[in-house]
Amino acid sequence: MQECVVVTLFRVQDVGWTREVKLFGILSLACNEVTMVKQVCIIGAGPSGLASIKCCLDEGLEPTCFEMGDDIGGLWKYRDEVMEGQGNIYLSLVTNTSKEMMCFSDFPMPAHFPVFMRHTVLFQYFHLYANKFQLTKYIRLKTKVKSVTKQTDFPSSGQWNIMIVDENGKEEKLVFDAVMFCSGLQMNPHLPLKSFPGIEHFRGRYLHSHDYKKPQEFQGQRVLVIGASNSGVDVAVGVSDLASQVYLSTRSGVWIFDPLADNGHPLDMALLSRWFFKKLYWCSWEAKKAEQKLNKRFDHANFGLQCKYGCLSRQGTINNHLPYRIISGSVIVKSNVESFTETGALFEDGTSVENLDAVIFATGYSQNYPTVEADGSLSMDARDRRFIFKNVFLPELSKPTLALIGKVEPIGPTPPVSEIQARWACRVFKGLTSLPDQVCMMEEVKKNEISWEKLSQNGQRHPYEVSFIDYMDDVANQIGVKPNLLRLSLRDPALACSVFFGPCTPYQYRLQGPGRWEEAAQAIRTQWDRTLTPTRTRVLPHSETTTNRRATTDFFFKFAFLVLLAGLGVLYYL
Ligand SMILES: Cc1cc2nc3c(=O)[nH]c(=O)nc-3n(C[C@H](O)[C@H](O)[C@H](O)COP(=O)(O)OP(=O)(O)OC[C@H]3O[C@@H](n4cnc5c(N)ncnc54)[C@H](O)[C@@H]3O)c2cc1C
Ligand SMILES: *[C@@H]1O[C@H](CO)[C@@H](O)[C@H](O)[C@H]1NC(C)=O
Repeated sequence: MQECVVVTLFRVQDVGWTREVKLFGILSLACNEVTMVKQVCIIGAGPSGLASIKCCLDEGLEPTCFEMGDDIGGLWKYRDEVMEGQGNIYLSLVTNTSKEMMCFSDFPMPAHFPVFMRHTVLFQYFHLYANKFQLTKYIRLKTKVKSVTKQTDFPSSGQWNIMIVDENGKEEKLVFDAVMFCSGLQMNPHLPLKSFPGIEHFRGRYLHSHDYKKPQEFQGQRVLVIGASNSGVDVAVGVSDLASQVYLSTRSGVWIFDPLADNGHPLDMALLSRWFFKKLYWCSWEAKKAEQKLNKRFDHANFGLQCKYGCLSRQGTINNHLPYRIISGSVIVKSNVESFTETGALFEDGTSVENLDAVIFATGYSQNYPTVEADGSLSMDARDRRFIFKNVFLPELSKPTLALIGKVEPIGPTPPVSEIQARWACRVFKGLTSLPDQVCMMEEVKKNEISWEKLSQNGQRHPYEVSFIDYMDDVANQIGVKPNLLRLSLRDPALACSVFFGPCTPYQYRLQGPGRWEEAAQAIRTQWDRTLTPTRTRVLPHSETTTNRRATTDFFFKFAFLVLLAGLGVLYYL
């Protein structure tokens, strides 16, 4: 630190600006106070960990990332065997968010990558990212972080003791100025066996969807899948290819979204726009309209799926195969299970199924959030997410040197959310952005808890679910990178239109402020090209027709937007 001041002074003196020397000296001394954080420990090299390393480097911090697995990419690294205490995926997994929405904000996916990617393709993207920004040299593979404890002088230093253990069982103790927890969210399967009386007598096999790998395991079997969430439906559809019969039990029904919206555009690019969310907020009929549309494709009541919640009030299920599996009889929808027998299951509606070979519980995950114990050690026992400030900082710590990254489930893509959290955390570590005082943080946290309680009573929200655009904007506001639409529409009206009416792609958060990326605007202009390129694989003589149609509607919107702006301007000056 001292060195840093001296160097600054000298540099300025060389140039001969004596007056500025004093100023710089004072400034650097002031910075000295807040730029104490240098060495950052990052736990996990999944998407969240990779983004965190990159953000540390961008801010001049020195990251060291520990990954217990033998590769980067987190749960997107497919393994045939089930990894306990880690996220797992199955062989047939395809992303349910599109490539333009789920990329990092300064690294668009290659144009030829498909829009919805098989896990192998997404895994490849994370390797491309790590190579491009040379992140691998900061990662220690096959090294597990065993414990995290406050340093004894934490109140003044904010430092942490980290205990790591390598593949040979050798332990090592290290000290870090800050810690970023990027250990994933879907690793502790929630198996509520108590709610399923009789399961202990069931003679078939039962497992959690976390442990499901491929349909071959269930060839010719009669299988019951419990839960119609994204993973439940995906597993039911996958297993039904080879099983003799699949039953899908759902307690409250579910809305099924087609990943392809109008014109075959990706669903998330159609729904996750600022314009659509404004409409939802101001026009109560928009949500009803969306439900009518979903029922127009297939009537959810006739398919046994009718849901008691609004289609946009909680996470729906994105799957285009289920209706066809239902109509062809390979998946039969049932109500909630009341109890199990030795060979079958009884349902709440009084029906039953017999001769079941296997039951797969797609009952989600229980979340472990760290709690700081009285002795200063961090325990990973379940803690209420709602007591975490904006899902990132623990309000009770006197120094904000610990951040949780990616411990949130956005209704939308995850990687850009982790990335913006990491950008915020790094700026807080450096003291360039400050957090509100502890009392204010607790107040906000408590306020959220009250509104969450209300929502969860209506059964509308999981505790860790957040709305994608709202959350991104909220965190972006902390570091001044939320796009300023008014300023943008004066400088580049066409771009402002894309930002407002188009999909809220992550590039929007690189248009201005710290971490601005020169090519962000261009990335937004070309986002539809990268979306359409991978499927335009057969050259057609009239292939320009669809583009033209889009261009026309785009033009209409832009025009309307300009008229509105002009109107506002006139009103302002009157
Ligand atoms: C079946 C499934 C499908 C999904 N589909 C999508 C999708 O389509 N789109 C989307 O945006 N998101 C999807 N997700 C969400 C997914 O969680 C995120 O995309 C992303 O993987 C989160 O990254 P992460 O780095 O936070 O966690 P993870 O990918 O889980 O990575 C965490 C890493 O931390 C390591 N680690 C943990 N503890 C330690 C320790 N103590 N020491 C050292 N290393 C440790 C683990 O080994 C792992 O490599 C899906 C999730 C699941 C389970
Ligand atoms: C995509 O699927 C995963 C896991 O099955 C789920 O957690 C996530 O919420 C889904 N995303 C959306 C946008 O539905």
